[in-house]
Amino acid sequence: MSETTQVDGRSFAPPEALAAQANVGPDVYDEAARDRLAFWESAARRLTWDREWDEVLDWSNPPFAKWFVGGRLNVAYNCVDRHVEAGHGEQVAYHWEGEPGDTRTITYAQLKDEVCKAANALTELGVNAGDRVAIYLPMIPEAIIAMLACARIGAVHMVVFGGFSADALASRLDDAGAVLVITADGGYRRGAPSALKPAVDDAVGRSPGVRNVLVVKRTEQDVEWTEGRDLWWDDVVGKQSAEHTCEFFDAEHPLYIMYTSGTTAKPKGILHTSGGYLTQVAFTHWATFDLKPDTDVFWTAADVGWVTGHSYIVYGPLANRATSVMYEGTPETPHRGRWFELIQKYGVTILYTAPTVIRTFMKWGEDIPAGFDLSSLRLLGSVGEPINPEAWSWYHQHVGGGRCPIVDTWWQTETGGHMINPLPGVTSLVPGSAQVPFPGISAKVVDDEGNELADDSTGLLVITEPWPSMLRTIWGDDDRYVDTYWSRFGHMYFAGDGAKKDADGNIWLLGRVDDVMNVSGHRISTTEVESSLVGHPAVAEAAVVGATDPTTGQGIVAFVILRESGTDSGDELVQTLRTHVARDIGPIAKPRQIMVVQELPKTRSGKIMRRLLRDIAENRELGDVTTLTDSSVMNMIKEKLPAAP
Ligand code: WTA
Repeated sequence: MSETTQVDGRSFAPPEALAAQANVGPDVYDEAARDRLAFWESAARRLTWDREWDEVLDWSNPPFAKWFVGGRLNVAYNCVDRHVEAGHGEQVAYHWEGEPGDTRTITYAQLKDEVCKAANALTELGVNAGDRVAIYLPMIPEAIIAMLACARIGAVHMVVFGGFSADALASRLDDAGAVLVITADGGYRRGAPSALKPAVDDAVGRSPGVRNVLVVKRTEQDVEWTEGRDLWWDDVVGKQSAEHTCEFFDAEHPLYIMYTSGTTAKPKGILHTSGGYLTQVAFTHWATFDLKPDTDVFWTAADVGWVTGHSYIVYGPLANRATSVMYEGTPETPHRGRWFELIQKYGVTILYTAPTVIRTFMKWGEDIPAGFDLSSLRLLGSVGEPINPEAWSWYHQHVGGGRCPIVDTWWQTETGGHMINPLPGVTSLVPGSAQVPFPGISAKVVDDEGNELADDSTGLLVITEPWPSMLRTIWGDDDRYVDTYWSRFGHMYFAGDGAKKDADGNIWLLGRVDDVMNVSGHRISTTEVESSLVGHPAVAEAAVVGATDPTTGQGIVAFVILRESGTDSGDELVQTLRTHVARDIGPIAKPRQIMVVQELPKTRSGKIMRRLLRDIAENRELGDVTTLTDSSVMNMIKEKLPAAP
């Protein structure tokens, strides 16, 4: 947990013009407080239902919630068809830009046709409602089309970020019991085609349940082909009819599984369902970003493979009939001004991104954004980790021209949608704090026993009432769902984040309190990296910590003990181990630093004292070492270390 909160006394009132026309005004908080369920019910009415619910919330079997009980809807119909039926077929849904500069403009009418064709194709391949479909694609429109096609026929999608390894993909295919994988030959990354199909071939080889692999042609790379199993997207989807009558599903019908790191080595399959999820992502997208469907150009610069992409590239924006930008590549390709060029080119009005990206831009310098016309921007958003006040100010001034409010949004894969954040037309912004619970959300800061804390004391963040887009369970593991989130405090949801609340009611998030690291906004478990390292024949023991990193928030630092003391512990081995982890889990899990040590600091009960390792990794004076079995261990480690970068 890091103390990143430096209140410097500044606050920024909402711009008058924005407040005067904001989608939600100050009354929204009172309205939600008066009757929380009626409030969410009116949010649900923004969607189109085939049948209304009989009951807003069934919490008779906590922590298993049912929202909008008895209601029926189709998520894809809400995201696409209804806008076309209302005469908005010609409106652009996505301005897509590939990394090499190729572009596609997709209107709502075109999106409807593509989704219907893909839905027909899935049915032809024998995919039924409730079946799991893995999507392992680059940031191309087919990723969205595939997600919506699944939703349309009631199949459960499971998007796996393209940066994950074959092993990570294989374990997810197996855990979810996927019957189909949708992938591409490759995607563009840092100016070059990067292959995806080989990882799929490797993973599917180990997953007997996968019947077919549907392959989108993106880079024209050569691919291995398994006859009878592999099919080209163009061949199967291209020939389908664009007519498809959608079925309506129960509000609690599963929509998707998204795997995220927990405190053990095995990722958790977070399950989201239909009605409550779409209600909250649509409403938060509309309120937090003050989205005006006729005039805004909205850009969530994240990957669809993460929950941010699911909720705020796909479901929220489409449910609100937004026009969005979608970009395939990295911010520095072919030059460091690429994002700003895109903002200028498409007239982006709302930009949503992560602090790690902002800090990277800070490093590159303010001259880069200054070289582009960013005057279309009117609102900025942040997600993924606390935004430090320096990054906040830089974002505010050099991207937002000093005129755009910044909404810092705290939420999680598990929460599905925004939970703690300011509202741009209402809240006076305090840089560095995510501020207040969203209307209809009840959050508290409590001590270890679950007692609410006095102002300014540091404790744990809990959510005290169920919310519409909450996870419903961990796929296939109800016990783990209960244990992980609900057993600590009984009927309160334990988020895993440290927090404090100040006298003005602002909540300051202080980072994870469990063994989960946050690297560039990605959650990676220390245990997962440790088990990968000990999986290498040279390693006997490993301890991994997240050390504060000026750009990525946290960097992964590993301490390893080798099997044989004679083993060469030089640079070459360290590089081999780093590559080993990257191959095992994915490049995002590659340790920033690996230190070979003789011993690890342990308590008398044998627990590794990560806190001390973190002190070392962050170049700090050592904290209390009295519970160590052997306090000389720390000196031995310190003497051996190269200076941290
Ligand atoms: C952290 C991403 C502070 C937090 C949507 C949480 C944040 C984890 C913020 C969830 C924020 C996310 N301020 N911390 N605005 N947003 N976090 O599941 O530790 O990838 O528990 O969801 O990121 O990460 P996840």
